[in-house]
Amino acid sequence: MFRVLVLHGPNLNLLGTREESIYGTQTLGEINATIEKIALEEGARVEAKQSNSEGDLVTWIQEAHGCFDAIVINPAAYTHTSIAIRDALLATGLPTVEVHLSNIYRREGFRRRSFIAGVALGQISGFGVQSYVLAVKAVVAHLTNTEARSR
Ligand code: DQA
Repeated sequence: MFRVLVLHGPNLNLLGTREESIYGTQTLGEINATIEKIALEEGARVEAKQSNSEGDLVTWIQEAHGCFDAIVINPAAYTHTSIAIRDALLATGLPTVEVHLSNIYRREGFRRRSFIAGVALGQISGFGVQSYVLAVKAVVAHLTNTEARSR
């Protein structure tokens, strides 16, 4: 079983009531349940955490080294501002997929810049809850391929 850390950034604890036309009506708890189910089907165990604090996210990324095989992260607004999260991801060196519920390229101009994309395996943006499902599948496929190549 691969171990995947799923991190949700600021304001994602409000999903279900927050700007429903953009982010949908599912709560974070419901989204996490979907992610956990898909992950198990794909052969991974996930631990999901949310914080409104940049420091918590940085600490959890640092601590993931040695405990997890990969990270799926929706850094939310920190996507567009956080060099600290980018540096933490570089430092842990774990394969990372960046996720967004909304299509960040169809919205305000300031959302088009991601400090995370350049250090991620890839970015999935715009598919609502499916963005997380696709990210988990992509990262497990990556881990499976990497493991097969090292045999
Ligand atoms: C988001 C997009 C960000 O621009 C925004 O700040 C969020 C959520 C998304 O999932 O679509 O909080 O990451």
